[in-house]
This record gives sequence, structure tokens and C-alpha cells, in this order.
Amino acid sequence: MKAVILSGGKGTRLRPITHTNAKQLVPIANKPILFYGIEAIKEAGITDIAVVIGDTGDEIRKAVGNGKRWGVKVTYVQQEAPLGLAHAVKICRGFTKKDSFVVFLGDNLIKDGIKSLVDDFKKKKPNAQVLLAHVPHPEQFGVVELKNNRVFKLDEKPKKPKTDLALVGVYMFDHNVFRAIAQLKPSARGELEITDAIQWLVDKKMKVNPYIIKGWWKDTGKLKDMLEANRIILDGIKQDIKGKVDKKSQIEGKVVIGRGSEIKDSVIRGPAIIGRNVRIRNSYIGPFTSVNDGVLIEKSEIEHSIILMNCRITEIKRIEDSLIGQNVQIIKSKSKPVAYRIMVGDSSCIEVL
Ligand code: DAU
Repeated sequence: MKAVILSGGKGTRLRPITHTNAKQLVPIANKPILFYGIEAIKEAGITDIAVVIGDTGDEIRKAVGNGKRWGVKVTYVQQEAPLGLAHAVKICRGFTKKDSFVVFLGDNLIKDGIKSLVDDFKKKKPNAQVLLAHVPHPEQFGVVELKNNRVFKLDEKPKKPKTDLALVGVYMFDHNVFRAIAQLKPSARGELEITDAIQWLVDKKMKVNPYIIKGWWKDTGKLKDMLEANRIILDGIKQDIKGKVDKKSQIEGKVVIGRGSEIKDSVIRGPAIIGRNVRIRNSYIGPFTSVNDGVLIEKSEIEHSIILMNCRITEIKRIEDSLIGQNVQIIKSKSKPVAYRIMVGDSSCIEVL
């Protein structure tokens, strides 16, 4: 079996972070979301992976490389525009050839991995298998109706969903999916929908099996989902302190501190992860916070947040529920007149005291 990871598209919902960063590369517990997907695929015994890339392809190539680090072989497939999930699959035909394959959406995080469902697919050999979960807001997803334990009807983000069973971002197909995609017309949002391709398989009486997951998963497109994913992953970390912690500092609970980092006169309350070469002085880092490499935090308090690489945060009373992009500076105003001075990208959200 092979695997195809979809990491094209435009991350409009996370702008401005995604102007410079593919949404699939935003780190959760200091590791890009996409890497969790690669690890899950490897763990399921698949080592031949195509990654579909779009506008942010260069960054993804740089971050993932040839896959050697994970013991997998990565091939890149360039999608000229985000024309839909089914389009992204279609352009991988030369890669998958006659093999069955897993399609994994690069912005999805599935905590318990995909080994059990890949094993199930290999055993039962249906034409397709979809991963499903009961969700509170099915209208935000592809929604599925089942009949006699088979997939019967699929609807992409319906206004009035008939069930609460959502398509999670993992699908499995044999080569018949390419016949289905060849019949598709663009949907109302102008995309070739994988949901419609699966409906075609169902209508042609092919076997489409459901696999309902019980464990935690997340489509990480929005800030709230990112913070939740960060919380869930951090909850599972073990204490590992490689950096320096001075006598005046206190480390409580599950905390990871990377090599080259220095904690002075501060309290770090886990679960929290501090990357490499981070300096924290006279500050409080609270539970569910990920601080990436090269960050400087002085005289500030931060909790339940994701701070990306090389930020500087100085004399800020309290930051919570925040995602802060790379190289951002948030510092107390010293010059007169005292004021908020802000340089911030499109579609940002800033709440001030
Ligand atoms: O997360 C699960 C949902 O994913 C399913 O319930 C929906 O049925 C399915 O359509 C999909 O919906 P989204 O609107 O969340 O898909 P999104 O546009 O976020 O794309 C998912 C991933 O696929 C993301 O990593 C970007 C990539 N992608 C997307 C498009 C449209 C591509 O590589 N090429 C594309 O053309």
C-alpha cells in the first residue's frame, strides 16, 4: 500500500500565520502537524508517500525533505491550484499506479494513529474505506449516512446534516477511485470533491466501508482547534529537561525543556514544552503552552498558547489562548506617548486590556 498526504490548498482560515507558513507546518507541541501524519503512516507500515503541495510547497519540501528521517520515501506532486481534494488525488495517479492507497489530509491530527484502520482495510479489501467520527457540529464536515453497516449517502458540509457522522481526514481507496474522479464536475464551491467521488463508488454498488474512530482527532484549520490539539498532545508528554534551570526557578509537572535553553527566576507549570535555545527570565509559563526554538520571554506570563520560533515577549502581564507567529515581538511600550503600537498582518485578532 502507498499513501498520499494532501498539503496543498491555501490556509486562509489561519491568516496571517499561513502567509509565511503552510497551515500543515504550524507546530503542535513544537512539532509540525504534518509530521504527526507522516509518523502515523509509517507506523501503519507504509513507507512510500506522495505529498501534494501547492503555493506553500517550497516550505513543505524544506521541512519534510526526502523522508529519510522517518525511514520513508517522499515524492512531491505539485497541484497547480487548490481545485479540490479529488483533484489532488487525481494528480497522484502516476504515483499510486495500480496500488491501493491511504489519503491523509495534512492538516488533520489523529491521536491514536491509523494502524488499526489500515489493517482493517487490508483484511476486508473493500473498494474504499472512510474514517468517521461522531461530532457536535457535523455541518462543518462531510457527513455520512450508513445503511446495513455500509456507507450509503455522503454530503459535503450540508446545511441540515442528517446524521452526526463526519468524515475525518483519512480515506482508503483501490484504483476504482480514479474512475469515480473522472466523472466529477466541480461542486458549488468550485472544487472536485472527494465526497462526490465516494458517492459515485457507492452508487456503482462498490463496497465502501465505514470505520468509526473512538479516539481523539482534530481538523486543525482554526485557532481554537490548534489550541485544543496542543492541549491534547501536551497532556501526553513526559518530563525531559535538557536545558539549564537556575535555583530560583520552579518546574512543576510534565515539562520538556530543549537543549541550549535557560530558565531563570521563573515558574514553568506543565504540561508545557519549551524548545531549544529559549530564554525565559522572571516569567510564568502556564499549562498547555508550547514555546518554540529561539524565543525570549522576560517579565511576562503566558498560558494555554502556542508561540512560534524566535519571538520576543517582554513585560507583558498575561497572554492566554493565543497563537503567535514566527519572529513576532510583543513588548511593553517605553517611548512617549505611551500607546499601543502595532504592526500586524491581515485578518489578525488582537484583544487588549
Ligand atoms: O477534516 C475533515 C474534512 O476535510 C472532511 O470532513 C470534508 O469532507 C473534506 O472535504 C475536508 O474538508 P475541509 O474543508 O476541511 O478541507 P480543506 O480545504 O481544509 O483541505 C484539507 C487538506 O487538503 C489541507 O491539508 C489542504 C489540502 N488540500 C485541499 C484542497 C482543497 C489540497 O492539497 N488540495 C486542494 O485542492
